[in-house]
This record gives sequence, C-alpha cells and structure tokens, in this order.
Amino acid sequence: MGKGGRTCAQIAALAAAAMVLSAQTPPGRGAPARGAPRGISPGGVGSDDKHVVDTAAADRGRKVWAAECINCHGTHARGTDRGADLIRSVLVLHDRYASEIGPFLKKGHPTQTTPAANLTQAQIEDVSQFVHFEVYQTMRSALDVQEVLTGDAKAGAAWFAGEGKCNTCHSPTGDLAGIGRRYTPVNLQQRFLFPQGGGRGGRGGRGGRAGAPPAQITVTVTPASGLAVSGVLVEIDDFNVSLRDSSGEYYSWKRTPSLKVVKHDPFAAHEALLDTITDKNMHDTVAYLETLK
Ligand code: HEC
Ligand code: HEC
Repeated sequence: MGKGGRTCAQIAALAAAAMVLSAQTPPGRGAPARGAPRGISPGGVGSDDKHVVDTAAADRGRKVWAAECINCHGTHARGTDRGADLIRSVLVLHDRYASEIGPFLKKGHPTQTTPAANLTQAQIEDVSQFVHFEVYQTMRSALDVQEVLTGDAKAGAAWFAGEGKCNTCHSPTGDLAGIGRRYTPVNLQQRFLFPQGGGRGGRGGRGGRAGAPPAQITVTVTPASGLAVSGVLVEIDDFNVSLRDSSGEYYSWKRTPSLKVVKHDPFAAHEALLDTITDKNMHDTVAYLETLK
C-alpha cells in the first residue's frame, strides 16, 4: 500500500489505537464524507480516551486544510515531498481534539497564508478533526470487507506453513480449526492482527481456542537470593516489576541490576507481524483462515 512502505496492518494498528473502531461498522464503501453520520464512534464501543470524529467539524476543517496545509501534506494528509504523512504520525495518534496538533502549530509551523499563530482555536480544532477523519477513512478502507476478501487462500495456506511461520504456534486442525466459522472476515482479520486486544470491540466476546485459557504475558523474576518467582505480569517498567502467581499472590520488586527479569510475551510474534507483513500476505492469510470452517 503506497507511500513509504506503510502497510494496511500498520495503518490498522495506528488507527485502531487512535480511535474507536468497531469491526461491525457497516461497509459503506466510498461513502461520501458528508453522508457519514455525525460523530463517528463506530459500533458504540464506548472507549473513553478515544478521539471521536465529528464529521461536521471535519468538513469545516477541510477548508482550513485546503487554505493552509494541503500543499505540503497532500489532499488526504498522506504527505508529499514537502510535508510529513500525518496518517502515520505519532503526534496525531496521541492528539485528542487538537491537544497535540494545536500547540505544535502554534510553535510556528509553516502554513500557506495565515501564520499558524494567527489561526483561531476553532480553526485549529476543525483542522484536527479533518486529520482524524482522514485517518479514520484510511483505516476503514484497510479493514473494508471487500478488501479483506481479495486474498488468495492457496497462497495464504502456503505462507501460513512456510515463510509466515504461523504453524510454529498454530494448527489449522488444532487451535484454529473452525475459525472461519467463528468470525466474520473483518473480525477474523482483527483477531489475527490484534489477538491481545480481544479484536477491538470484541473484548469479552472473544471466541478464542475452544476450552483453552486466554494467552497471557508471563514473567519470571529471580532476585539475587536465587529464588525465582513466576506468574502473570501485572506491570513492568524501568523501575518496577510485579506479577501475580498461580495462587493469586501478588509480588512486586524494585528493579536493580542483580534482579533477573525474563518476560515471556506470547503476543510478541503478532506485534512484530504488524511491522513486517505485506498487504498481500495479510489478505491471503485472512482468505485462507476464512476457509477453515
Ligand atoms: C510549507 C509546508 C508545510 C505546510 C504549509 C504545513 N506543514 Fe505540517 N509539516 C511540514 C513538514 C516538513 C513537517 C515535518 C517536519 C516537522 O515536524 O516540522 C510537518 C509536520 C507536521 C506535523 C507533525 C507530524 C509529526 O508526526 O511530527 C503536523 C501535525 C502538521 N505538520 C500539521 C500541519 C497542519 C495542520 C498544517 C496546516 C495548518 C500544516 N502542517 C502545514 C510541512 C508543512
Ligand atoms: C510465537 C507464537 C505465534 C506465532 C508465530 C503466531 N501466532 Fe497467532 N497467536 C498467538 C497467540 C499467543 C495468540 C492468542 C491466542 C489466545 O489468546 O488464545 C494468537 C492468536 C491468533 C489468532 C486469533 C485466534 C482466535 O481464536 O481469536 C489468529 C487468527 C492467529 N493468531 C493467526 C496467526 C497467523 C496467521 C500467524 C502467522 C503469520 C500467527 N498467528 C503467528 C501466537 C502466535
């Protein structure tokens, strides 16, 4: 997918983190911006800290965009050789209603006519809405049912057992048997890209492997005394680590050079996949998984 080697999977990851997304969003392919419902918070998943796109504001923002930003960042905010791609921008990812974009512009970012410092707060909020709307549109087309189903199942099967190395953890007749029956294609793609997230909007309603407990990140901590403790990771950062062992006991340590911490993250392979998988491999794999009825 286009510029800078960005893939659908990466866009999906960025955008899913940036705003509420539901796989149940009706596939309104190419629906005009104006026709879109006001206040897109698809599926009403109701996550709190998400940017909810206000399409009326985004429409107003499009005018500011055309006057001040379009020459450098392009029609759909995907960037040109004069300006960055804002769809994959981390700053935009963290922006909530111009919380990041506003101060960034006010610091004296170049604009086409009116100096950024002279833009009104309303204009800045509208242009922020426009950028979020473009992120949403890009993501939606990346997750569109039609696109999801463009894959070649045979090629997907070969990749699954070959280069993709999926079969080192999964089996089409074992844990993934019948997965094509359990999920719609879009949900299947979500589960595949974000197994840990419960498939965005699928939280609580996960199908999972029949009977198996959900996979969890575990950790083994060995203090200098030598007595190792293992359990489900509660929290880890540069300073502390905590876990809960199988009996429910909670342990926490300050991290020091003599404290050995070994993390086992069953989702690491999937996270790495977001950066490496090509659109073709992704679509082929979903087409293949879809045949596992
Ligand atoms: C003259 C060209 C130009 C214009 C006009 C322009 N930009 Fe930029 N913009 C850039 C360039 C180049 C960068 C990357 C370098 C930087 O961060 O300053 C950038 C970066 C950004 C970023 C940060 C991206 C990131 O991830 O760091 C945002 C947000 C942004 N622009 C928004 C806007 C908005 C909104 C407008 C219109 C109000 C606008 N820009 C107008 C050239 C431009
Ligand atoms: C290192 C091990 C590992 C590798 C390699 C791996 N996965 Fe996974 N996968 C997991 C774990 C762990 C889960 C989460 C399972 C759970 O929560 O029960 C998962 C979940 C999934 C799910 C969702 C299953 C469900 O029922 O919701 C799909 C689909 C999937 N993986 C497909 C793939 C494909 C396709 C590949 C190859 C590109 C792959 N995986 C590579 C470990 C792996």
